Amino acid sequence: MAIQIKPRIAAFRKPSDISSEDAKSMPQKYFVASEIFAEEQKSIFFKEWLLVGHQSQIANAGDYVVQRVNGESLIIIRDKRGNVHGFFNVCRHRGSRLIETDNGNCAAIQCPYHAWTYGLDGQLIGAPHMDDVPKFEKADYPLQSANVGVWEGFIFANLDKNPMPLERWLTPLAGKFSHWNMPILQPAKRIEYDVRANWKLMFENYSECYHCPGVHPQLQKISPYDSAENDLREGPFLGGFMKINAGKSLTMSGNACAAFVGKIENLQQVFYYSIFPNMLLSLHPEYVMVHQLWPQSPERTLIICDWLFHPDAFNRNDFKPEDAIEFWDMTNKQDWHVCELSQQGIASRAYEPGPFSSRESIPAAWDREYLGHLK
Ligand code: FES
Ligand SMILES: [Fe+2]
Repeated sequence: MAIQIKPRIAAFRKPSDISSEDAKSMPQKYFVASEIFAEEQKSIFFKEWLLVGHQSQIANAGDYVVQRVNGESLIIIRDKRGNVHGFFNVCRHRGSRLIETDNGNCAAIQCPYHAWTYGLDGQLIGAPHMDDVPKFEKADYPLQSANVGVWEGFIFANLDKNPMPLERWLTPLAGKFSHWNMPILQPAKRIEYDVRANWKLMFENYSECYHCPGVHPQLQKISPYDSAENDLREGPFLGGFMKINAGKSLTMSGNACAAFVGKIENLQQVFYYSIFPNMLLSLHPEYVMVHQLWPQSPERTLIICDWLFHPDAFNRNDFKPEDAIEFWDMTNKQDWHVCELSQQGIASRAYEPGPFSSRESIPAAWDREYLGHLK
């Protein structure tokens, strides 16, 4: 899985590209160069904890999801003891892909080629006609595992051999979101977006509402663009809250669309946090929206957006998840459109970095964090 990186790439990193005093957007190469993209894969996406889903997707023993991670395919599966495992989707016999579907349930993982069979814990439990092979021991051929961890109900994977424990990585966020009951929430909808823009543009876009009056007229009516107050201003986790007008909700109708997810102290606030490098977490009083970002090339990003609600909300008459989903699908598309416009302009020979406004301190902080990860 190692990516061949040419040594000269080391020269790309210039922390001075974004300093706090003289903050400007990043140079063109960070958005278009395949060498930078390869370096990001190596130094960020093969090193950091990546959001791959929520535990509600694999509630029962044998439930699995298959997630593509940087050209790799990972099986995320729950075993009979309730433990969540991550396995490379690669047979230990002659390497075949094991599971072709995106999700499902199985009693064991059986290879479609010669039927080697693995338990839910990854141990090889069946290998037809291998008994007469000298020195062959099934115990020597478990599935190759990847690091996985669960935080607040969300499943993360890390392809580094010895990553920092997930809990330690997320220490600055410990207990911060407990009111939202995220471990027990249930998904109501997933929408995938294929966006023709560099993944960093979506992080920068998410981190400011300077663009909101023009780009999001509907959002702006319910949540004033200049109401942002950030409490995490530097580092891998960034964001804060914005106000929601009294009695309103971020839905098409403007009304709350479900029972609240927990004991939310202030119903006039929506919280937005970016969690480096691939998670956007949006916490509303009655739902949690989460985006996964998966860079496909310098100019293309797959975005997976999930909406999660309290399990009790689903059985109530006031449950109208589509009211929130429609609102954010519209708002997401408004954002992706300007990200695509940015990509087009940044790729021009006329582009040069422009100055960030005082309302873009979080995008500037995100850029600093990103540049710090490149070797
Ligand atoms: S490649 Fe999987 S059993 Fe042969
Ligand atoms: Fe936006």
